Amino acid sequence: MDHHNKRIIVGVSGASGAAYAQRLIQMLMSCGAETHLVVSPLGQRLLHDELGMEGVDLHALAGLTPEADSPAKLIQHSYRDVGASIASGSFRHDGMIVVPCSSNTLSCIAHGSAQNLLHRAAHVTLKERRRLVLVHREMPLSLIDIRNMQAVTEAGGIIAPASPGFYLMPQTIDDLIDFLVGRCLDLLDIEHGLDVRWEKKAPTDTDPAPADKTRAQPS
Ligand SMILES: Cc1cc2nc3c(=O)[nH]c(=O)nc-3n(C[C@H](O)[C@H](O)[C@H](O)COP(=O)(O)O)c2cc1C
Repeated sequence: MDHHNKRIIVGVSGASGAAYAQRLIQMLMSCGAETHLVVSPLGQRLLHDELGMEGVDLHALAGLTPEADSPAKLIQHSYRDVGASIASGSFRHDGMIVVPCSSNTLSCIAHGSAQNLLHRAAHVTLKERRRLVLVHREMPLSLIDIRNMQAVTEAGGIIAPASPGFYLMPQTIDDLIDFLVGRCLDLLDIEHGLDVRWEKKAPTDTDPAPADKTRAQPS
C-alpha cells in the first residue's frame, strides 16, 4: 500500500513510554506518512528523562543522524499555538495518536478541553469523526481514569493501553516496543512489517493435554 499521502497527527504527553513515540515516528517516516507532531511540556521532559533528548529533537525522533537533512515530512507544532493548522477541522488527516497518553491528557480530552494544541487537535479529531487513538499509560487505574476512557470511547476514540503482549516471545525491550507500535500502526490503517501477528501453530507433543470438558464425550 502507498502511504505517501497519509497524514497523521502525533501527540506526545507526559506519561512514561517516550520510546514508543520515537519508534512510531520512525515507522511513520519510513512509511512516507506526513507526520504532524505536538509535544506537551511534560512530554518534552519525558523525552529528556527517558531518551536523553535535548528539546524536541526531530532528527533523533525520525531516526536520522544529526548531519542528515531535516525530515521534511515531520512537522512540529508549538503546544501553545492553538491557531496552528491541526487545530482546525478543515485540516484533513488520517488519524491522530497520543503516545504515550497521560491520565491528565486523557481527562482533558474526555472533557473537551482545548486550551493547548494537543488537546484542541484531539477535540477536533473527535468532532470531525476522525480516528483518535490514545496510548494511555498508568497503572493501576482509578475509577476517574476508567470513566474518562468510557467518555472518549463513547465519543468515537480508541483507548489503546500501553500493554505489549508476550505471546510472540519478545527477547528485547525493542521487541516489546515494536509490538506496541505495530498494533498502533494497525489502528491507524498503516501497513508495516513489524512482527505483531499471532499465527497459531499446530500443537506439539509437549503442549498440555486439553481439559476433560473439551475432549470428545465417551460413547
Ligand atoms: C518521570 C515522570 C513520569 C510520569 N509518568 C506518568 C505516567 O506513566 N502516566 C501518567 O498518567 N502520568 C505520568 N506522569 C505525570 C504527568 O506527567 C503529569 O500528570 C502531567 O501533568 C501530564 O501533563 P500532560 O498531560 O500535559 O503531558 C509522569 C511524570 C513524570 C515527571
